[in-house]
Amino acid sequence: MATEPMSSASALIHAGTQRELGSPVVAPPMLTSVFASAGEPATGYARGDNPTWTALERALGVLEDADAVVFASGQAASMALMLALARGRHTIVLPREGYYNARVLATRLRPHGAEPAVVDLQDLGAVESELGRGPAVLWAETPTNPLLRVADLTALGELAAKAGAPMVVDNTLATGALQRPLDYGAAASLCSLTKAASGHSDVIVGAVMTRDNALAAELREWRALGGGIAGPMEAWLALRGLKTLPLRIARQSKSALGIAEYLAGHPRVRAVHYPGTCQRTLAVARAQMPGGFGPLLSFEVAGAAADADAVIMAARLIVPATSFGGVESTWERRARWPGETAPEALIRLSVGVEPVADLIADIARSLEARTA
Ligand SMILES: Cc1ncc(COP(=O)(O)O)c(C=O)c1O
Repeated sequence: MATEPMSSASALIHAGTQRELGSPVVAPPMLTSVFASAGEPATGYARGDNPTWTALERALGVLEDADAVVFASGQAASMALMLALARGRHTIVLPREGYYNARVLATRLRPHGAEPAVVDLQDLGAVESELGRGPAVLWAETPTNPLLRVADLTALGELAAKAGAPMVVDNTLATGALQRPLDYGAAASLCSLTKAASGHSDVIVGAVMTRDNALAAELREWRALGGGIAGPMEAWLALRGLKTLPLRIARQSKSALGIAEYLAGHPRVRAVHYPGTCQRTLAVARAQMPGGFGPLLSFEVAGAAADADAVIMAARLIVPATSFGGVESTWERRARWPGETAPEALIRLSVGVEPVADLIADIARSLEARTA
């Protein structure tokens, strides 16, 4: 039977929609730990499966044309991926300026598999040489948190393929709405749905997208065994948020670009980090993120940590808080986290969906703030 063509934007919105007459259009969260069952093989325990995850996984699959496996958090997803991919491999190659907890996790998991090797992902020679040390996993991230460095997915995909190394891309900042790592040969695309994907700063959830059936099955096994499952309520809220991701992230990206340009001309700002204003990587960023550069940027205040703290606390609109991708703008001085390697006076700003003029006015006033 011929099927009507449907854009992925429509498919995303309708992934969890029910249309049988009399049924709720939005399926409620499945709040149960058990399903009635008998006989063999034994099924019916909700650590293995839940229809609310399935609806969310279907929607995530639409975005990246993939099978999705939902976890309790981005870190639970990372742990399952590292356990699945690092076994029997010599090295796990990670970005020096990427999300610091990925490096911490890889270091803690060292006894279970590969040795972490930290590199600059823009230095393709260094990546190639680390991948050449023996069977490896390439754990990429682009743009990176918190320095917004862009890595060339085409080049990394080619290096990984040449070395026979599975490539993982942490796609949390861009999300599948702006960037599709699996199209560049990645074995897995990782996303902390806690951020822009769910977008309302009210849940912690994560997911892995893959087109490799064996890997998806192994991840489901690790999820059931390790127990890092998403609560049905969290999965339901993430699905609700995901439906508006393309709308939100388009506006956030546009505002973030305007703010990055404003900050670049400000006398109190020493440096701005944003894929849309970094001339060195702009062509690559445009090619692999055609729909926008995402909601996150960072900038360095001229001065010390206390000067950046004063700026943050002077805001009336932008909330002092960690995490990112929510509809409300937030910022924080990133180096306050132990283990983070960002410069002391670097502020990471997550641009929400407020009118950009309000945000620029808030930033302009906050940058007037001085330490006592
Ligand atoms: C790039 C990136 N990956 C993964 C994670 C981990 O996600 P979660 O906090 O959902 O465990 C984060 C969290 O900040 C992140 O920024």
